[in-house]
Amino acid sequence: MEHSISPQLLKVRRMERKQIHDIPKEERPAYHVSAPTGWINDPNGFSIFQEQCHLFFQYHPFSKKWGPMHWGHCTSKDFIKWEYLPCALAPDKSYDEGGCYSGSAIEANGEHVLIYTGVIDRYLDDGFHYYRQVQCIAKGDGIDYRKNEQNPVITGESAPAGSSLEDFRDPKVWKEEDGYYLAAGSRSEDGSGQILLYRSQNLDQWEYVTVLDQSRNQYGKMWECPDFFPLGDKQILMVSPQDMRAFGLEFHNGNNSIFLYGQYDKQSHQFQREKVASVDYGLDFYAPQTLLTKDGRRILIGWMQSWDANITPVSFQWSGMMTIPRELTLEHGRIYQRPVKELENYRTDMVRYDHLQITGATALDNIQGRVLELLLEITGLEFEHFQIRFARNHEYETFLQYNRKKECLTIDRTHSGIDRDVVCRRKMELAPMEDENGKKVLKLRILLDKYSVEVFANDGEKVMSSLFYTPLEADGIVFDCDQTAWVNIIKYSFEI
Ligand code: FRU
Repeated sequence: MEHSISPQLLKVRRMERKQIHDIPKEERPAYHVSAPTGWINDPNGFSIFQEQCHLFFQYHPFSKKWGPMHWGHCTSKDFIKWEYLPCALAPDKSYDEGGCYSGSAIEANGEHVLIYTGVIDRYLDDGFHYYRQVQCIAKGDGIDYRKNEQNPVITGESAPAGSSLEDFRDPKVWKEEDGYYLAAGSRSEDGSGQILLYRSQNLDQWEYVTVLDQSRNQYGKMWECPDFFPLGDKQILMVSPQDMRAFGLEFHNGNNSIFLYGQYDKQSHQFQREKVASVDYGLDFYAPQTLLTKDGRRILIGWMQSWDANITPVSFQWSGMMTIPRELTLEHGRIYQRPVKELENYRTDMVRYDHLQITGATALDNIQGRVLELLLEITGLEFEHFQIRFARNHEYETFLQYNRKKECLTIDRTHSGIDRDVVCRRKMELAPMEDENGKKVLKLRILLDKYSVEVFANDGEKVMSSLFYTPLEADGIVFDCDQTAWVNIIKYSFEI
């Protein structure tokens, strides 16, 4: 497909080949996708094509800052080991000159079909700033993609009256029995987010169907990066709203990602929302997207960074990474998230402490490091505070603190080397769960990968993801309790 590779794309591909190898492996996360070079944000086109998982991402290869968006690309056979592929899309057409923004992908008629937002951004002869977001198609073989001659395939004019022509983006495509559908983010007449549903028989011609749901200024402004999928007996609309206001411990100020639980009538295309909850309660999480595996698992991946607190150190040659892919299940009326089971294939060097009494600060033999998994079951819940301090030395530490009385878990990276005025703490409500014998237990599964921590609480009931860029020598782990806790601890290293 060489003919369709534009000079812009060729330039990036040449540059990438060199730069990817210039970044030492030691500097990158061990089992999380990170920017090949330059900057990445949202996961895009997360899909299975020809038996492999493909992940694209918003990508500015020329610097470590957001800039004209490309689609970077990598693949994996098991969601854990990733291989970089050449950059897939560059902003090289009149309808995407301002960037190839987020979108999704699907396998159709033996081809890999990408649907993305093209940004038209230019000054007209009379000086008028013409800005539009439109939806575009590119088809390919898993490496090279050619953009449709008929692009754009959807423009904002198709949306209900009063909808924004400028904020209309991030199409997520899927297949139903009666054809293809896509959900795209938009702004309604009241200026806040809405999700539009479109339908197509061939992926090239699209018709507008309906508004799936709207913010009505309650859940932020623009709704970005929608996804829409069934889970258990619910239908989930997942969106990433901009400019939200904090609400209790559920939502924080700024960009959030939320699950809207509801019911969906496939005939009338009506979505009835029942409740809303955060996807992740950490400091660095945004724009998640899901795929369905051949064996029926709904897997989610998110951008593990925040727009407002981008803390990548200047010395790094890359900026941006993804979360661990997580399997979603509906249990006890809420969405549980667990790291994909494939991660367990890479576990090594188990260390185990059973029924250990923790009183005061306690370091344990063979429990330290920055690339590992910790499984904790905390019982004997008679204390007020229990802490796990990690990525620790005389200068740095990040910690998790459980306040038993308030039933609240805090992540705190105040002492993680950040010298800017960014938010360093977030709390989430978390009650102990009951084990099989009806006994109260607090379960924490903690994944560390050099600069990130993901905490899966109570078998995945709630998750917190956060970054901390401290030197890797800060690798101590200390457990601390103001009274007495009884804990079972398992630690694994990973060999990737
Ligand atoms: C979300 C987002 C998307 C957009 C992309 C641009 O993080 O703002 O709505 O498509 O990033 O890079």
